[in-house]
Amino acid sequence: MKNTVTTFKDAKAKGQKISMLTAYDYSTAKLMDEAGINGILVGDSLGMVMLGYEDTLSVTMEDMIHHTAAVARGAKNALIVGDMPFMSYQTSVYDAVYNAGRLMKEGRCQAVKLEGGASVCPQIKAITEAAIPVMAHIGLTPQSVNAFGGFKVQGKSEEAARRLLEEAKAVEEAGAFAVVLECVPAKLAELITRSINIPTIGIGAGPDCDGQILVYQDMLAMYSDMKPKFVKQFAQVGQLMKEGFTAYMKETEEGTFPAEEHCFKISDEVISKLY
Ligand code: KIV
Repeated sequence: MKNTVTTFKDAKAKGQKISMLTAYDYSTAKLMDEAGINGILVGDSLGMVMLGYEDTLSVTMEDMIHHTAAVARGAKNALIVGDMPFMSYQTSVYDAVYNAGRLMKEGRCQAVKLEGGASVCPQIKAITEAAIPVMAHIGLTPQSVNAFGGFKVQGKSEEAARRLLEEAKAVEEAGAFAVVLECVPAKLAELITRSINIPTIGIGAGPDCDGQILVYQDMLAMYSDMKPKFVKQFAQVGQLMKEGFTAYMKETEEGTFPAEEHCFKISDEVISKLY
C-alpha cells in the first residue's frame, strides 16, 4: 500500500509510529521499500555520506534531483520526500516554489522538506498552496551549522525551548504535513508532539515523537566520519562490506575467482580453429 501524507496523518491519529530512513540510490530504496519502511527522505545529508563533503552546504538542486529520481524508481510504497538544498528556498518565496516544483516534477518525490521555523513559513505556505506537501525541520538544522557554531543540541534553555515549541506551531499553521525534530531534548520533543496535530519525526529527539528517522549509513555502521550520540547501529554492514571486499581481493590475487561456474563457455571445436 502506498504511503501518503494522509497515511502519516492517520498514523498520528491512531498512535501508530512512523518509520523513516534516508536513501540516495535505487537499490537501497528498493530494499527499504521491500522491508516496509513508511517514508524515505532523500536527505541533503547525501553531501556528507555519499559525496564526502564536511557538511551539507555544497549540495545542489541538480544533486538532489538526480538522487531523488533514483530513489523514486526504487521505492513504490514508501512516501518519498526530497530535501531542498541550501539556498534553494531561503532566497525568496518564488525560488522556494520553483525549486520545490522541480524536485517533484523531475525527481518524482511526493513531498519536499526544508529547514527552519518562522523565517520560512511564507515558503512553506506558498509551496503547500502549489499542492506540494512540505515536511518542516526544526531544532538542529544542519544548513545553519555556521550560525549555530557546530552541530549542537537545540532547545535546552527555557527561552530556546519556548522558541522551538512556537516554531513547531508556526510550521503547522503554515501548512506543513509533518515536522522533523533534530537534536531536541526528549522531554521537549514529547511536549511538542503533544502540542501539535501533525506528526513529529524525531532524530535525536527521544522515543515520544510520532516517528523516527535515521541516516541509513549511520544505522548500518557504514559511515565513520562522525557518530552522533543518537545513532543506534542496527547492523554492522560496514564491517561486512569490508570483509566482502577483502575476500574478493584475496581470491582475485590467488586466481580462485572467477571459478568455472562464473565463466561463459565456447565449444572446443570453435576455439581450436583460432590456434
Ligand atoms: O538530510 C538529512 O538526512 C536530514 C535528516 C537527518 C533528517 O535532514
